Amino acid sequence: MNSETNKRARRKNEHIQLAIDHPGASSSDFDDVRFVHQSIPCIDVDQVFLSSMVGSLTFDHPLYINAMTGGSSRAGKINEKLAIVARETNIAMAVGSMHAALKDDTLSESYTIVRAQNPQGIIFSNVGADVSVELALKAVEMIKADALQIHVNAPQELIMPEGNRQFSSWLSTIEEIVKQVEVPVIVKEVGFGMSQETFSQLRHIGVNIVDVSGRGGTDFIHIENERRSLKEMTYLTGWGQSTVVSLLEARSSPDFDVLASGGIRHPLDAVKCYALGAKAVGMSRTMLLLIEEQGVEGAIQYIESFKEQLTIIAAMLNARNLQELKERPIVFSPELLSWQEQRGLQ
Ligand SMILES: Cc1cc2nc3c(=O)[nH]c(=O)nc-3n(C[C@H](O)[C@H](O)[C@H](O)COP(=O)(O)O)c2cc1C
Repeated sequence: MNSETNKRARRKNEHIQLAIDHPGASSSDFDDVRFVHQSIPCIDVDQVFLSSMVGSLTFDHPLYINAMTGGSSRAGKINEKLAIVARETNIAMAVGSMHAALKDDTLSESYTIVRAQNPQGIIFSNVGADVSVELALKAVEMIKADALQIHVNAPQELIMPEGNRQFSSWLSTIEEIVKQVEVPVIVKEVGFGMSQETFSQLRHIGVNIVDVSGRGGTDFIHIENERRSLKEMTYLTGWGQSTVVSLLEARSSPDFDVLASGGIRHPLDAVKCYALGAKAVGMSRTMLLLIEEQGVEGAIQYIESFKEQLTIIAAMLNARNLQELKERPIVFSPELLSWQEQRGLQ
């Protein structure tokens, strides 16, 4: 292993540990979104089907394990376990940033293990907005990915002591990748949320699937600040739009398939995401904790129960599918209403 590879592997391991150790936000914008209870449902539970179309992909369940890891031996073991969970529960899964393996072939197994464990599943590759088209194609090919996630993580890079400082070519890089890659491209945040201005930039370059990955769960400003010797930027934690606010921002962009992640605490948060227009909901830190604390079996049980609870809540809302969930009335807190007014959102 060369020293660059060593540094990368060490960083990945630090991210995993810091994400596990950070308890996450104490309050959540999901509590500012309320459904209206109706007393007489007109459906049976076995009429509820929550399958979803994301681009050209059919998700049997509107859930996925979101990007985390790869590039170190600890990461490879985590990826293997996550892949088994994804296979057994029939949900999609993203690997973490593949830059490590794109630069050092010896690390590819920590990613290819995911395809080896789950040959038929929906799997996403993951790269940053600074890779060449050639490397993006290689990332897709390496794990025979069904889609490519391109992460945009400027605040993380800026707080990261050794992070990237050059963002001026991100948009044109994404545009080139979208033109050349044959699988669907998902532009994703990493826990800072998205805005209508971002959707507008992405629309112009041909992107039509996003993962808003909002504030409320894993906070990469906290994580990177912990890696700084002075830890002097704590005040910036909590930066960005929450997942709920990001979904509100996305409502004026109906031409996008929107995925939601960031701080999903339980199935009701997920149902609120669907009601606000999300096609599927992703979890990262929760899955990492499950794997570490309860192993593969515990994680499978959690996801199976999560899926069942989604069905129960949909029935409680008299909704047979995601479209009907989108039509259910919602009441927002004054704070969320004010955000919508000030931002000119309907
Ligand atoms: C340990 C860890 C590593 C992550 N690494 C990546 C990554 O390599 N690429 C990426 O796009 N997102 C990465 N993320 C961000 C997640 O995909 C997700 O956007 C974010 O954690 C918010 O979801 P959560 O609150 O459920 O954790 C990582 C998250 C965690 C917890």
